[in-house]
Amino acid sequence: MPRNLISIQDFSKDEILEVLKMAAEFEKNPSQPIFRDKVVASIFFEPSTRTRLSFETAANRLGARVIGFSDVGNTSVTKGETIKDTIKMVSNYADLIIIRHPLEGSARYASEVSPVPVINAGDGSNQHPSQTLLDLYSIQKTQGSLDNLFINIVGDLKYGRTVHSLLQAMSHFNPRFLFTAPEELKLPNVYKEYLNNRNIPFEETRNLMDGIRESDIIYMTRVQKERFTDPIEYERVKNIYSLTISMLENAKPNMKILHPLPRVNEIALDVDNSDHAYYFDQAKNGVFTRMAIIAKLLGKN
Ligand code: CP
Repeated sequence: MPRNLISIQDFSKDEILEVLKMAAEFEKNPSQPIFRDKVVASIFFEPSTRTRLSFETAANRLGARVIGFSDVGNTSVTKGETIKDTIKMVSNYADLIIIRHPLEGSARYASEVSPVPVINAGDGSNQHPSQTLLDLYSIQKTQGSLDNLFINIVGDLKYGRTVHSLLQAMSHFNPRFLFTAPEELKLPNVYKEYLNNRNIPFEETRNLMDGIRESDIIYMTRVQKERFTDPIEYERVKNIYSLTISMLENAKPNMKILHPLPRVNEIALDVDNSDHAYYFDQAKNGVFTRMAIIAKLLGKN
């Protein structure tokens, strides 16, 4: 059976740390064409800028060739081809498949029918494990350690797949969490139970100002418009939070603001020049982290 990355729970704590160490090596030397004989398929059934382009950059920097699609309208899915048949076909052509799909569980299903490794590049509101690994890399780089941090996660905690993967991964490192969200976008109970079962302390608030002074990391998220079934509910919460420079006056010097991006209105433009802003560097870290993930799954010697 090939090794896959579908949920962040597929990697142990040691494996997570191994990927971060490999990412640091790739950052020092990003051109390492060790997979010239490999083909990587990048199949995106949902829009993406960062994940697709950074995975494709990572594969190119590793010397692999990249095939795939980013517009499902140009594929035989429009003729009724199933995910299973699509994956079977792509696995005939490629040595590794990177898939983004709107259905929760689709990436796991793809891995069950694929003879080659599969990476989940986001499945609905469920998981986005490669984003989490680059988030961890960014946290480790900026804080010097992943241990004993106060992490304030803000925004759409209900539908935000990056949130769900991140809290599971950070649970290895003795964090304290603050979850900042309106009632409609609170963290689902299944994730609170996950934390309770591991004795990870967390609090919840609706007020964005509550955790700013104490936070080591403020992890902002976009309200996931595409996941709402009721557009009126989206309209009610879409601009619920906007982090501005004046709110950061009492923040700790080490505090960094992360965001998986894209942002809409949740971080004001005046924050971009602050020493606390790290979200564009975070996205850049995606290339090195994804090189490490590909190398791990394809078997770097
Ligand atoms: N962070 C992230 O998943 O961004 P994209 O949707 O642009 O890939």
